Amino acid sequence: MKSQLIEKFCALYGRVPEIVAYAPGRIEFIGNHTDYNGGPVLGAALDRGVWVAIAGRADGRRQFSSDQRGAPVEVRAEDSAKRTGATSWVNYPLGVLAAMPGFGAKAPAGFDFLAMSNLPAGAGLSSSAAIELASALAFLEMAGERPPREIVVKIGKHAENNFVGVPCGILDQGVSGFGQKNCLVWIDCRGPVFETVPLPADAHFWIFNTHTKHALVDGLYAERHRECMAAAQALGVGLLVESNAAAVERDQARLTPEAFKRAKHIVDEIARVTESRSALARGDLAQVGRLLTASHRSSQFLFENSTAELDFLVDVLTAMEHVFGARLTGGGFGGAVMAMTSGAFGEAQAVVAAYRARFGAAPEVLHTQTGDGATLL
Ligand code: GLA
Repeated sequence: MKSQLIEKFCALYGRVPEIVAYAPGRIEFIGNHTDYNGGPVLGAALDRGVWVAIAGRADGRRQFSSDQRGAPVEVRAEDSAKRTGATSWVNYPLGVLAAMPGFGAKAPAGFDFLAMSNLPAGAGLSSSAAIELASALAFLEMAGERPPREIVVKIGKHAENNFVGVPCGILDQGVSGFGQKNCLVWIDCRGPVFETVPLPADAHFWIFNTHTKHALVDGLYAERHRECMAAAQALGVGLLVESNAAAVERDQARLTPEAFKRAKHIVDEIARVTESRSALARGDLAQVGRLLTASHRSSQFLFENSTAELDFLVDVLTAMEHVFGARLTGGGFGGAVMAMTSGAFGEAQAVVAAYRARFGAAPEVLHTQTGDGATLL
């Protein structure tokens, strides 16, 4: 991919790039919407992601191009407006540039920029965090800064929260930044504290991307965020991580029926993440799988961020041999289901056929490996 990127960069801009950086996409392993509630989460960096190449320009012009879009987009350095429509992908690197000064780094003035990706878009695999982290590493290098990884992660999250405008937690950027092959990344989102957890050898990941996306997905994500904050307030805590299942049951009368369901999902999910970590340490993949599927059911019935397509995939997958568990991965309201299977699983095409028979379209299937985190190349 790096050589393709350099070739394309030369063809576009007539010179070689000075800096190339890469950041992976991620699977949300377990911990659905726990991150911005201060809870823990487990994720895995994938062996696919986004590559960014840049070269400085003395004339102060900023040109952005990507392999998925047409001609370069020029954005003047003094123009800090958010883009809409076909060029809105530029908001990710623009958000990173806007975030840099707050972290003590001077944003580079002029450059040519090219991004390439081998992540399926809209699958809930965080192509946005990947482009943010690869851009951050490249821009920081151009500015002569090599801050700790945690700062790169925070710059990416800042871009997403403040420029792109999604009130996400630190899961996506944290996993893309701290990923390690054959490991999961465990994040205590309150610190945040990042750790790697070895993944038992027989755990295989399959992604079934439905290519469906609720039209209001960003609005619905923000609505869940608001509902969780309101539930925390009603329960008298700052964040739901400070509550627990017993307290939520006890104080149910203080919550609307909807707020109760959201809060219950979060406190139970936090417990499932912790249990998953212990089960992983024992190599008990059967138990981890049960927790994954329980997480999905909680999304389906309590957090209500699943869809008929995702539920169908989980139903089909969990009835199959060699499948430990399955769940929606990421924000929800469409996107993809992740299944953890043993190496003996060979039924992906049967899942595709069942889905096609029900919905008339085939999901995209990825048998993915874990990969390493963001890096300069
Ligand atoms: C999206 C967000 C993450 C996280 C997940 C849900 O991927 O970007 O921060 O909240 O949804 O767990």
